[in-house]
Amino acid sequence: MNTPAFKPLRGTLTVSGDKSISHRAVMLGSLATGTTEIEGFLPGEDCLSTIRCFRSMGVQIEQNGNSVKVFGRGLRELTAPAGILDCGNSGTTTRLLSGVLAAQHFNSVLSGDASIQRRPMKRIMIPLRAMGADITSVSGNDCAPLSVHGKQLYGIHFNSPIASAQVKSAVLLAGLYASGQTTVTEPALSRDHTERMLRSFGAKVLTGNFEDRPSVTVTETQNLYGTEISVPGDISSAAFFLVGASIVPGSEVVLRNVGINPTRDGVISALRAMGAKIEVLEVRNEDSEPAADLLVRYAPLHGTEIGGALIPRLIDELPVLAAAAAVAEGRTVIRDAAELKVKESNRIRTMAEGLSRLGSTVEETEDGLIIDGGAALHGEAVESYSDHRIAMSFAILSLVTDGEVRISDPDCVNISAPTFYEDLKSLLS
Ligand code: S3P
Repeated sequence: MNTPAFKPLRGTLTVSGDKSISHRAVMLGSLATGTTEIEGFLPGEDCLSTIRCFRSMGVQIEQNGNSVKVFGRGLRELTAPAGILDCGNSGTTTRLLSGVLAAQHFNSVLSGDASIQRRPMKRIMIPLRAMGADITSVSGNDCAPLSVHGKQLYGIHFNSPIASAQVKSAVLLAGLYASGQTTVTEPALSRDHTERMLRSFGAKVLTGNFEDRPSVTVTETQNLYGTEISVPGDISSAAFFLVGASIVPGSEVVLRNVGINPTRDGVISALRAMGAKIEVLEVRNEDSEPAADLLVRYAPLHGTEIGGALIPRLIDELPVLAAAAAVAEGRTVIRDAAELKVKESNRIRTMAEGLSRLGSTVEETEDGLIIDGGAALHGEAVESYSDHRIAMSFAILSLVTDGEVRISDPDCVNISAPTFYEDLKSLLS
């Protein structure tokens, strides 16, 4: 049987700005005194939700594509929102904002879309309550809507049971207002953008180890100071093109100015372990948020094992790594990734379902997936469950199927990568 010729990805691309960093730039800019100018901002729906929430608390924010100017009000000068704070689909907005709201001099309610109203919020309510916060789930199911009565907070040492940057950041942001010191210890290091950016805004942040676990401490803070932030490209968006170019013969792509913060770059390690040819060129900004150009060429992939401390470094890239595994020869085992079940969709289930529909052999496990790759994949209808990373993973896999892959709600990619289809097309032409 002849292998069908698939169209290679070729050319150079600047991927959309980093979602996690864009959120934090707007939040800290709003809480700082003076103006903050953000370049490379991601105008995706999630980050626009963060802008909307801070505007409704009196912050003036000018946004023009990738450029944003935030006229900060200071840590203690936000004003009570007139209605419910709408976080849309964004877990980062909901959880980080909860930490800020817990310490305000007003009461507030935050909520979001149907997906947000199913996602677990107990993970932030537990540490925030330990700090003295009054935060409750309106429906009593530990999910949003959340009702927050602003209170005086107290510093704690929180031993987080999960490696979650959203939990860590919610506690650290609350810690800016809490008396004394606030420390978060994690089982493995999650993305550290909050820590890095707090320092850029003048806050004192101590990082180290507590009983061999990564730990970070902030102190009650009077002022953050507006600054300039240059947001690198999102490695989570770049990951789709890293996989696309790795699986289609003849591909060669340069992805410019991609963030390679060591707490986020696990996808490069995992793909290299599968045989991918990725070169990291021109590393810059090593002090703040390191970025580089990534050169990726087609290479035959083979199965691998992904688990342990690598998981938080590639948590959002696991759907597209599962897609790569379906093409790779042999078995890929993803473990220690139960967190995938509480993302925008249950990503263990949604990937297993879609991959099976395309003809791959997949087993869903308690904390991951076992994928026996290498079978020919065929076009089919797949359900994205309106999860942006699921839709993009199947769009990438459609590059190597023998027929069309029809993805439900394809526009959900606007959550994190509004230019995704355009970008993909540009590399195919
Ligand atoms: C994020 C942290 C991660 C990640 C999410 C963005 C952040 O979530 O999956 O897309 O910006 O802090 P968890 O903290 O729940 O692991």
